[in-house]
Amino acid sequence: MKGVFITGTGTDVGKTFIAAGILYHLQKKHIRAGYFKPIATGGNGDMLYVAQILGDASLVHNCYLFKNPVSPHLAAKKEKKPILLEPILAYFETLTKQYDFLVVEGSGGVAVPIDDAGTLMVDVIQKINLPTILVGMAGLGTINHSLLSIHFLKSHTINVRCIVLNMGKKTEIEEENQQIIQHLSKIPVSGILPFYPDANTPLKAQQVMQENAGIFENIVSSLEREEIYVPL
Ligand SMILES: Nc1ncnc2c1ncn2[C@@H]1O[C@H](COP(=O)(O)OP(=O)(O)O)[C@@H](O)[C@H]1O
Ligand SMILES: [Mg+2]
Repeated sequence: MKGVFITGTGTDVGKTFIAAGILYHLQKKHIRAGYFKPIATGGNGDMLYVAQILGDASLVHNCYLFKNPVSPHLAAKKEKKPILLEPILAYFETLTKQYDFLVVEGSGGVAVPIDDAGTLMVDVIQKINLPTILVGMAGLGTINHSLLSIHFLKSHTINVRCIVLNMGKKTEIEEENQQIIQHLSKIPVSGILPFYPDANTPLKAQQVMQENAGIFENIVSSLEREEIYVPL
C-alpha cells in the first residue's frame, strides 16, 4: 500500500486542504484512496471536510476524537481519554488492507504533544512510517518554521519528501522563500498553492484543486522516489 503523512509547520496552514486535494486527485484517477486522521481535536471538521470534497463519508477515518479545540495532550486530559500509540497503529494497519493509498493527517505541527510523558506528533509520524510531506505558509515567517520542522523531523530520522507552500499571495518574497528553503533543506518545494479567498464551499475548493492539479501531481510523484535518509 502507498500513502503519505501530511504534517505542517503548525495548525491552520492547510494540511486538510492539501490532504483533500491529493485525495481528490487520486479519486479522479480511480485509485482506491482513503483518509485517516489519527487524532482530531475541536470536533470532526477535518473528516467532514474531506468527506465533502470526496463526496463519500465512508472514505474518512479517525481514531481519537476530542471536542476541545486544544492540543491533543490537553484535550486527552480534559476529556479523560488518554491517547495511546497502539490503537492508532492498529487502526492504521486495518486501513492499509482496505486501501491502495492512504493519506494520513497529523494534528498541528511536529512537536505537538499527545500526552504528558513527552510523546509528540513526530513519534506518530515515525511509527506510521509513510513518506512525509510538510505544509507551510508561503509568506513571511515560513523559512524559520519550515527549516525548524525539517530539522526536527530529521533528528527523528524522518526525511521529508517535499514541501508545499500554501496560501500564496504573489508577494515578492514567496519565490525567494521557495528557493532558500529548497537550497538549505535540500528538499524540493512542490509548488506554491495560491490563496483563494472564496474557496469556502466544497464546490469552489474542488475547482481550486482542479486548477492546481500540477501541484498535487508533483506531490504524488515526490512519493514515488526511493527514500534515502540524509542525516543532519
Ligand atoms: N490555498 C487556500 N486558499 C484558501 N483557503 C485555504 C487554502 N488552504 C487552506 N484554506 C482554508 O484555510 C483554513 C485552514 O486550512 P486547513 O486545511 O484546515 O489547515 P490545517 O489542516 O493545517 O489546520 C480552512 O478553512 C481551509 O479551507
Ligand atoms: Mg487539519
